[in-house]
Amino acid sequence: MAAVNSQRVPLIAGNWKMNLDHLQAIAFVQKLAWSLKDARHDFDGVQVAVFPPFTDLRSVQTLIAADKLPLQYGAQDVSQHDSGAYTGEVAGSFLKALHCDYVIIGHSERRQYHGETDEIVGAKTAAAIKNSVTPIICVGETAEDLEQHGPSAVPVAQLRTALAVAGKATDVVVAYEPVWAIGSGQAATPEQAEQVCAALRAVVAEALGDEVAAATRILYGGSVKSSNIAGFMRQPNVDGALVGGASLDVTEFTSIARFKQHVGV
Ligand code: 13P
Repeated sequence: MAAVNSQRVPLIAGNWKMNLDHLQAIAFVQKLAWSLKDARHDFDGVQVAVFPPFTDLRSVQTLIAADKLPLQYGAQDVSQHDSGAYTGEVAGSFLKALHCDYVIIGHSERRQYHGETDEIVGAKTAAAIKNSVTPIICVGETAEDLEQHGPSAVPVAQLRTALAVAGKATDVVVAYEPVWAIGSGQAATPEQAEQVCAALRAVVAEALGDEVAAATRILYGGSVKSSNIAGFMRQPNVDGALVGGASLDVTEFTSIARFKQHVGV
């Protein structure tokens, strides 16, 4: 298992949600890059990405390109449509034009507040792939799902449908975010995360083949902090984290990205 894991570069991704305007984003990204460089972070060994609101993306792109910062970035959503009369939506081709590395798709907050179904998540995944932007497909169960169906059933079904709708893909990231763990301070245990992430890797294998599954990064998200990241990263099927609240604190996010330096890793 360790040999398989070594082909996947860990990804620490900061989902800012609806926080930080474009001016705050510039200051934040500058500080983050300094903080990581100061700590001699190995950016090839652990990739670090930020996910600001749409209105910040052009500023973040320009800063990262101008200062050649070794950070990645992406958007928090994408339209399933190519273009046209879809007020308020943002096309995958626009994200490509901003050189976004990734786009988060199907976050539980999009599913909850914007009615995104697994089919829509699949269509958005296809839109990202078509535009060479790597989708980060989010799945996860609610507390009721957990009680009724156990830990893996709902996330497995969500991913299976999304990948079936999306079609052929070679470059995807999956994020397992139990809804009950998001913003609650109540993270899953590393063992719980490993169990579901292993099941999700099996779904990727079933849909896209063993080779793609072995290369696909599966992230854990939900109340990740510097004090618990190492436990998750020790698991063979957890390849990084999707961080919400703690990604808005430069010191804390830097420490999460530096998990390899934590004791016992
Ligand atoms: P928290 O880290 O704040 O729990 O949020 C997780 C999340 O939703 C990341 O996408």
